Amino acid sequence: MKVFKHFKISDLALGTWKMGGEFWTPNHENDENDIKAIKRAVELGITTIDTAEMYGGGNAEELVGKAIKDFKRDDLFIITKVWPTHAKYEDVLKSAKASRSRLGTFIDLYLLHWPSPTPICETMKAFEELVEEGIVRFIGLSNFKPEEIERANECLKKNEITAVENHYSLLDRSDEDTLDYARKNGIAYFSYTPLEKGRVAKLKILEEIAKKYGKTPIQVALNWYISIDVMVPIVKASNLKHLEENAGAMGWKLSKEDFEAIAKSVK
Ligand SMILES: NC(=O)c1ccc[n+]([C@@H]2O[C@H](COP(=O)([O-])OP(=O)(O)OC[C@H]3O[C@@H](n4cnc5c(N)ncnc54)[C@H](OP(=O)(O)O)[C@@H]3O)[C@@H](O)[C@H]2O)c1
Repeated sequence: MKVFKHFKISDLALGTWKMGGEFWTPNHENDENDIKAIKRAVELGITTIDTAEMYGGGNAEELVGKAIKDFKRDDLFIITKVWPTHAKYEDVLKSAKASRSRLGTFIDLYLLHWPSPTPICETMKAFEELVEEGIVRFIGLSNFKPEEIERANECLKKNEITAVENHYSLLDRSDEDTLDYARKNGIAYFSYTPLEKGRVAKLKILEEIAKKYGKTPIQVALNWYISIDVMVPIVKASNLKHLEENAGAMGWKLSKEDFEAIAKSVK
């Protein structure tokens, strides 16, 4: 488990981009399989689930809602996001209520998906209203840099930014400044696209280290992210074999030497 200032969650999160469709467009072809995958992820201990109103035009949220209804709600941590064109006060309230209804439950962490032309204080005012109404528990931002996070924090009266979700992988570590910011402020750093669609597994060093631990290169890569104090990698997997493999990245720890060797090799 990862323990942050505001919440305690699983070491690994499940992504849902491409489940239930694509950019604002639902596709129901794989719904049954994706519901099974989300359920299996929770059974395997991946109890943090990342989705968004944009994913499949809300269908990904519906799939999450269907998959989680038989699990104990307190064991789960559901993240969803509002698209930047819905960042005006009234639109945020409308979007969050629609997400809650598709999910069939409250939202643990609500994120502004990308920076928006709407003044950030207007968006944050709506986020605080959602916390007040019990629709959302915690507030966060996605694809934001430290100075933008600071600006959003200055708008908040009763809450604070509890998490940031940005792109970070062994093949692209350019967001180290935001990672440092998360560390200094005790907030969660969710790293998205950590497998770079499988390309990460091809790193030679992962293969060498994997042999030593009896693990796969992907398990070593995911364990490397988990080893970073404030980081929770988000991995999407619809394939049950992939899910089993990814869950095997939890419950053990790379040695400090192996962690450093991987870090040095990708600098
Ligand atoms: N906030 C943002 O702006 C933002 C942007 C991008 C992504 N995200 C979030 O982050 C999540 C993860 O990012 P992503 O979906 O872009 O990329 P990813 O998780 O790095 O890669 C997903 C791909 O990897 C495959 N995969 C998963 N486990 C595997 C394994 N053990 N072996 C081989 N292949 C494996 C999946 O295949 P199968 O599905 O066939 O199992 C899928 O094709 C998203 O789903 C979304 O929730 C957020």
